[in-house]
Amino acid sequence: MQNVETNRLILRNFTEKDAEGMLEYLSNPRVNCFLGDKISTLEEAISNANKKSKDDSFIAVCLKDSGDLVGELFCMKEEPDTYNIGWNFNHKYEGKGYASESAKALLHYLFDQKGARRIYAYVEDDNYRSQKLCERLGMRKEGCFLEFISFTKYEDGTPKYENTFQYALLKKEWLRATNI
Ligand SMILES: CC(C)(COP(=O)(O)OP(=O)(O)OC[C@H]1O[C@@H](n2cnc3c(N)ncnc32)[C@H](O)[C@@H]1OP(=O)(O)O)[C@@H](O)C(=O)NCCC(=O)NCCS
Repeated sequence: MQNVETNRLILRNFTEKDAEGMLEYLSNPRVNCFLGDKISTLEEAISNANKKSKDDSFIAVCLKDSGDLVGELFCMKEEPDTYNIGWNFNHKYEGKGYASESAKALLHYLFDQKGARRIYAYVEDDNYRSQKLCERLGMRKEGCFLEFISFTKYEDGTPKYENTFQYALLKKEWLRATNI
């Protein structure tokens, strides 16, 4: 992707140099949906950063001033014109509005430049920060899928299922809200 700038941030493709910053948040997943992405060593982080660097679906979010990696966004295209988006930020940089500033820019980029008609996100029912973020972005809560997915197991080995909200925003809703 082409770099996207906001007031405080740069959104860009990953590079190998992001490995250290990535390790900080991927080594300690805060929500179950990222347990499968857990890494523990710098070598794993380098390999992860290299893989993501070749894929426009993964977006590094960095501070304009220092270049520090604060977290990442993803956007998976579902043909022909729908995108599934998500976010994972370093706890150190939470509560500063960086996730909403970058996600707003991502919505703009997808609707304006990538032909998106519909953008949606899945959020588990106990992930309040992510729900708040969706609401701040003007996304509509469309419904709750009960026992939608399992990332963990109970002690006896049976899957523990999560209840998952779906939030979405259509391009026409976004245009109306931004008065473009
Ligand atoms: C979900 C997640 C991205 C939310 O991050 P966040 O920092 O809370 O989100 P925002 O960028 O919207 O920041 C909003 C907060 O910053 C505060 N803030 C401070 N300065 C701000 C500024 N200049 N502009 C806007 N908000 C600002 C807001 O008041 C708000 O605080 P509050 O939560 O106490 O009300 C983050 O918690 C995360 O990465 N979690 C782990 C991964 C995860 O759950 N991913 C989603 C899976 S579905």
